[in-house]
Amino acid sequence: MDFVGSHILSIDQFDRSDIEKIFAVADRMEPYALRRKKTRVLEGAILGNMFFEPSTRTRLSFGAAFNLLGGQVRETTGFASSALVKGESLFDTARVISGYSDIICMRHPESGSVAEFSQASRVPVINGGDGSNEHPTQALLDLYTIKRELVDRGAGIDGLKIAMIGDLKYGRTVHSLSQLLGLYKDVEIYLVSPKELRMPDYIEERLRKAGHRLVVTESLEEGINNAQIVYSTRIQEERFKSTEEADLYRGRFRINQAIYTANCQPNTVIMHPLPRDSRAEANELDGDLDANPNLAIFRQADNGVLVRMALFALILKVDHLLEKYEREVSWFTRK
Ligand code: CP
Repeated sequence: MDFVGSHILSIDQFDRSDIEKIFAVADRMEPYALRRKKTRVLEGAILGNMFFEPSTRTRLSFGAAFNLLGGQVRETTGFASSALVKGESLFDTARVISGYSDIICMRHPESGSVAEFSQASRVPVINGGDGSNEHPTQALLDLYTIKRELVDRGAGIDGLKIAMIGDLKYGRTVHSLSQLLGLYKDVEIYLVSPKELRMPDYIEERLRKAGHRLVVTESLEEGINNAQIVYSTRIQEERFKSTEEADLYRGRFRINQAIYTANCQPNTVIMHPLPRDSRAEANELDGDLDANPNLAIFRQADNGVLVRMALFALILKVDHLLEKYEREVSWFTRK
């Protein structure tokens, strides 16, 4: 695809060469993300960051990524602080905010809303999650993490064995990641969920068409036994009709160190898009895994900055100028 000036709305936009291009630019962002160097390549540019659903990682990492490239961020969070609450349309909002920004990131609770917004926007729009539909930049950072973790273990994405666990019906991260895995070869995917929260049929169908082997199961042990990557997810209670309905499924698939030791390979990587639900009744990834070196959840969150910096650089066509605008860092930085 031609990244320059493009919206990023769905993982369907990419082919394998696009993914390789994003990952190659993401690799070059590491010195800036780690504050070993700084670059001012987007000095003067403005990101409009519009989040109409709660977010910690996506909102802050988009903002940090833009700042690390030298740009500035203007934000609105929640409907209550936006004129949408007064009945303003997405069309009008897009026309207005795109006059203030060089690029926009947006999260919204309704599927398809970010695509609708992008049609009225005069600048590129990146989907930061639209309802239970897609979260394309999360899938990119997830795959980037899988690639980096597997390289350390002498393996690659083709031939991957992955278990996706939890709320596969409403979890937009697993929807986008599954679609992305459709680009690779010979993937074995264990889909572990209550039958009511099974992966949507159209995604299972696409994975089968891609030639992948699917195992649909309600057994956590069966799912994690052979997997190189265990990708756990939270019950998406905000998509359920009631808390009571979500309570039926909460805590169904907990992983702790004892379960890991009993069922996983010694170097199985544990991932989660976060937030993990740490309440006692849920606790899908127990705190006793925090000392496990194969717990990749915080490396995964860090990688979000690299991947989002890469997207900004490619879309705004500055990827070739990073080093030209590079400077030394003058403050104390972590090693
Ligand atoms: N992974 C993710 O989307 O996290 P946030 O909801 O905190 O943005």
